[in-house]
Amino acid sequence: MGLHVSSHPLVLHKLALLRRVESEPKKFRELVREISQFLVYEATADMPLAPYTIQTPLSTMQGHAIGARIGLIPILRAGLGMVEPVIDLLPTAHVWHLGLYRDHNTLEPVTYYNKLPAQPDIDVCLILDPMLATGGSAVAAVDILKVWGAAKIKFLGLIAAPEGVERLQTAHPDVEIHLAALDERLNDQGYIVPGLGDAGDRQFGT
Ligand code: PRP
Ligand code: URA
Repeated sequence: MGLHVSSHPLVLHKLALLRRVESEPKKFRELVREISQFLVYEATADMPLAPYTIQTPLSTMQGHAIGARIGLIPILRAGLGMVEPVIDLLPTAHVWHLGLYRDHNTLEPVTYYNKLPAQPDIDVCLILDPMLATGGSAVAAVDILKVWGAAKIKFLGLIAAPEGVERLQTAHPDVEIHLAALDERLNDQGYIVPGLGDAGDRQFGT
């Protein structure tokens, strides 16, 4: 349970490059990809295993498969860049897109796309969104998943502000949060400082 902020040297190295204003969209997407793989590696450390018998060239032995059905929930747009690197490591995962954007004036999330199937048929939902700022989008995403019937939910993000972590933990204390960094604060416009700017714009060059 709780909050996990990576301290892995490779994550810190790549995060510094990601934040740099000089990192253009191609480089930025590559770094989002790499850091996302480290994050999901850490966030899946407690996944249940299903043992089964395998044959090596020399003998049979007990192998293991991931024993949970996993759903990836990228928050559009910026979460899109985290899908491919994560599903590369979890190829049987299902992907359900959620479209949320922050209203620029109120900073509150607006839902514009939700195609979750009628019944949840997965054991663990991993919400993918690089930025946890005010926490409004993450709380809205978890609200939607819980109404849908999701039992276990984890949030995977690259950078968070303390305000967003507190809002998510207060609304949904059962949701584990996995981050590459916890930054200092939000500015008056709701941007994370020092942060990296707008994660969607930087990935897609908009
Ligand atoms: C960004 C980010 C989160 C949200 C975080 O999305 O990807 O979804 O802001 O902010 P919050 O914690 O204050 O809700 P944005 O609304 O900019 O949409 P985009 O991904 O389409 O650019
Ligand atoms: N969304 C972003 O992309 N960046 C921030 O700093 C805050 C919200």
